[in-house]
Amino acid sequence: MPCSIPHGGTLINKVDLKRSWEEIEKEAELDEAALSDLVLIATGAYSPLNGFMTKVDYCSVLEKMRLADGTVWSLPITLTIHEAMASSLSPGDFLRLTFKGSTYGLIELSEIYRPDKREEAIKVFQTDDRHHPGVQKLFERGDVYLAGQVTLVKFPPADPEWAEYLFTPAELREKIHSKGWNSTAGFQTRNPVHRAHEHIQKTAMEMTDGLLLHPLVGETKKDDIPADVRMKSYKVLLDNYYPSDRAILAVFPASMRYAGPREAIFHAIVRKNYGCTHFIVGRDHAGVGNYYGTYDAQNIFLQFTEEELGIIIMPFEHSFYCKTCDQMASAKTCPHGPEHHLHLSGTKVREMLRKGQPLPSKFSRPEVFAILSEGMRK
Ligand code: ADX
Repeated sequence: MPCSIPHGGTLINKVDLKRSWEEIEKEAELDEAALSDLVLIATGAYSPLNGFMTKVDYCSVLEKMRLADGTVWSLPITLTIHEAMASSLSPGDFLRLTFKGSTYGLIELSEIYRPDKREEAIKVFQTDDRHHPGVQKLFERGDVYLAGQVTLVKFPPADPEWAEYLFTPAELREKIHSKGWNSTAGFQTRNPVHRAHEHIQKTAMEMTDGLLLHPLVGETKKDDIPADVRMKSYKVLLDNYYPSDRAILAVFPASMRYAGPREAIFHAIVRKNYGCTHFIVGRDHAGVGNYYGTYDAQNIFLQFTEEELGIIIMPFEHSFYCKTCDQMASAKTCPHGPEHHLHLSGTKVREMLRKGQPLPSKFSRPEVFAILSEGMRK
């Protein structure tokens, strides 16, 4: 089986670039996250979703991590507007979905509802602390949710640094198929690929036919390394250290939620829709600060069967370089204490990059460091 079966059985396609929309008067303005969700719904990355969530699906996702029909789904996918606009809308309306004045999609409004955002925060992020970037974003957005099926009528412009790596799920499935791989491990990242990431990717590659390096390039928090800089670093790494017929680089144009365990499930299911048969989950996947335990994002998968997930999870221990072993290792393979290990926090790495201080080559490849340090000092 070269590619996994899409979640829910069918790859959704709600793209219609010829659809006329000029006659539609009402409109809703999207934020960056909603625009990326629109594209991901329409291209099938979020199959089986074919629109923004209805209240019954939304409540079921919060309560059970399942859509109302029982399909596993862990994050709300919602379209928000501000209260002032809600009174002019009714179910049955067609709305243009706009971003910075341009129309990108349409929604056939089926429902208008008001969420309990505090409850959503607690369920999704396990906290209502506004310092959490996902919680902050949730409270910043409008208080009214719109549900309904969508159509994408125009693709948003892509950044030149990653435009050629942007594929729809159908295109990426075709690419995987043409490689002849029977198993593909998907790797999500919002960071540069340092030696620990490379170690777990290559360990996964020993067990699968190929790797999909699938960095998220949508909205991230301000202090994450920008996607265009990261893209340069992924290219140099793959060109120099990965066999070209065993790894595909493609971008995942979603926004980051920082929802830890729930986002890990979402990331896995979406990669299944892009064709992966396996998905890598390492330490504190999609985490931020100290909100989640190191392995919470792995343990959450135990609540579901492999059949209902439809993708095989590859869990990895926290990896590091051990000076005494003189190799990459984890607690599973290294007997030495933390004082033997090379450890740099994300904050420390960003600080070193900003100051132009070299990262140790056992932490990050020199080619990667050179690109990051140039990108961060601009
Ligand atoms: S994430 O927010 O996109 O998950 P990041 O880019 O840091 O963040 O991580 C990408 C993947 O690598 C995740 O599955 C994460 O768990 C894993 N990972 C990151 N660092 C390590 C590490 N040192 N050891 C093991 N897994 C790691």
